[in-house]
Amino acid sequence: MADTCTESEAASLRDALNRHNHLYHVLDRPEISDARYDALFRQLREIEDAHPDLVTPDSPTQRVGAEPAEGFVQVRHPAPMLSLGNAFNEGELVAWHRRVAGLLETDRFDMVCELKYDGLAVALTYESGVLIRGATRGNGAVGEDVTRNLRTIKSVPLRVMGRAPEQFEARGEVLFPKSAFHRFNEQRAAAGLPAYANPRNTAAGSVRQLDPRETAKRPLDIFIYSLGHTGGPAPETHWDTLSDLESMGFKVNPNNRLVHSIEEAMYYYRHWVEGAEGLDYGCDGVVIKVDRLDYQQHLGVVGREPRWAIAYKFPATQEITQVRGISVNVGRTGTMNPFASLEPVNVGGAVVKQATLHNEDYIRSKDIRTGDWVVVERAGEVIPQVVKVLACRRTGGEQPFVMPSDCPSCGRPVVKPEDEAMSYCRNPGCPAQLVRLMEHFISRGAMDVDGLGVMQVAALLEKGLIQDVADLYGLASKRAEMLEIERMGEKSVSNLLEAIEASKDRPLSRVLVGLGITHVGSEVAEALSRQFRSVDALIDAAEADLLAVPSVGPKIASSVADYLANEANRRVIEKLREAGVRLMDEAAAEPTGQPLTGLRFVVTGRLERFSRSEVEDRLKELGASVSGSVSRKTDYLIAGEGAGSKLSEALKLGVKTLDEAGFIKLAQTAAPH
Ligand code: IVH
Repeated sequence: MADTCTESEAASLRDALNRHNHLYHVLDRPEISDARYDALFRQLREIEDAHPDLVTPDSPTQRVGAEPAEGFVQVRHPAPMLSLGNAFNEGELVAWHRRVAGLLETDRFDMVCELKYDGLAVALTYESGVLIRGATRGNGAVGEDVTRNLRTIKSVPLRVMGRAPEQFEARGEVLFPKSAFHRFNEQRAAAGLPAYANPRNTAAGSVRQLDPRETAKRPLDIFIYSLGHTGGPAPETHWDTLSDLESMGFKVNPNNRLVHSIEEAMYYYRHWVEGAEGLDYGCDGVVIKVDRLDYQQHLGVVGREPRWAIAYKFPATQEITQVRGISVNVGRTGTMNPFASLEPVNVGGAVVKQATLHNEDYIRSKDIRTGDWVVVERAGEVIPQVVKVLACRRTGGEQPFVMPSDCPSCGRPVVKPEDEAMSYCRNPGCPAQLVRLMEHFISRGAMDVDGLGVMQVAALLEKGLIQDVADLYGLASKRAEMLEIERMGEKSVSNLLEAIEASKDRPLSRVLVGLGITHVGSEVAEALSRQFRSVDALIDAAEADLLAVPSVGPKIASSVADYLANEANRRVIEKLREAGVRLMDEAAAEPTGQPLTGLRFVVTGRLERFSRSEVEDRLKELGASVSGSVSRKTDYLIAGEGAGSKLSEALKLGVKTLDEAGFIKLAQTAAPH
């Protein structure tokens, strides 16, 4: 019998594991690393192995996974979706191999080495070659029907190619590519939304969106690693299964390897323990599987884990360290980005000194204070994160974070809009913002100026050679001064000036991205450029016109309008124009010969025969641009019943006006015969 101390230890481990299980599997909001979870799980299992009387029906060792969340239809898996046993060092891997060899009565068996993806496990069911259902793993026995969401993943075949069993199930892991994850978070930050913690949670969250259109916006990917059969001749090995899957059109990882000995498997592991960071998707170990399917059958499953496979995990990417202080960086759009300075700590081979804290809400929700002992995580290329606070280590001297009331760069007051998680410095001339804005302006997704690094940007600003983004185009006349900057030689200056010159011809949407307007990422910029076709038309647009653009809501519309109404911003735009930066899209720049191309219309008042939007659509079809407010640049105002201020403005500015009959006539004469 176990003593009461062991008994209560088992109980508290059970409670902790159940809680973390729920946080991870149901809420997609883990608070501890997988490595830590695994360690707790092992501790409990060791106790239960030594004291079988302590095993309770609610022990996490007695079930597979967790309860599925509400909101989706539940589906029972035809065969349970299993888990994997873990090895954390070579000794444990060798022990696994020896056990398998003992059971098979031979040590001559091939194995398949795969990467252990850090995403979300799913099962795809096909009938007569067509995808009929996609489900999450859920608790292993019952998952959620997320077919409509999985269909949006481009690497999921909706119909398989070539010969395939009449009915089968393909299983794999859905992933959010790391590079896309960074972009995604940048866009969220630009929209004032809190950042997602890591690609795994974001993949899981995306698959479990109730609205598939949301899922479709996320660039999810999948790797298929197993096949469940019903009927037909089955392959003899896992390796052949993978190749069958590949020929059916599934995405199978090209890094899979067939090996003949455990030494080769170790070699595979050693390669990827170094190399995994360079992959564009998260993986936290390698999986080693016995190749022959009849051997797999013979070895069988114990509890939730097959004996024929093992996950050999990479070293933990989490460590414990202390927060030295919390400070803020000023972002491009003036966002106050808090970060923690940490007691340097080696996390899986790299020294971590700082971790992002995202925003004030994040700090508050985790209650992170200066002086706290915290768990930090470094997952792939993702910026180090503070995963949780070890509140039990507090001594009472820890200092809660207070958002500074003034910008640390320019000293102007910091403001926090009620409905946003972020706080802002609203001074457009703030030096810190300017450096970030420059970096953004020249970045790949914007003007793509090659050969200009962060250091040089800072040096150019410091020397006063540039004061805003448009000044880049005046650098050609400041060659001598540029040559004085460290690491700027004749050749690099020439290359840089050439790259700056070349950037003048970027599409309008890139210019719009480059300006760094709050909430305007590439998607919004493209929509705006498609609709307005030139910066001038955008300047003329009323907020209502902006709102009519797909993917533009009130927040974006008012941000764009505010930006364009600002004198300083308008000066920058004028400077860009003078420098020869193309501020219109190609279609607008080169008239297409449409009858009303180049003409600007405003429509106001009630018309008898057409609705206002019908008129506007017709005008656009004929090549005209339509805006919501009258300015000197307006060519025609179409005024119906009850036209008010726009009509008087037009009369004041001498803008030509047309009534409904005039519009009909114009449309008829303009329309191609
Ligand atoms: S095989 C044998 N292969 O790991 C049953 N699983 O701990 C396990 N996983 O939920 C499936 N990469 O989502 C397999 N190459 C791989 C994998 C893999 C990641 C995940 C899978 C499963 C979990 C089991």
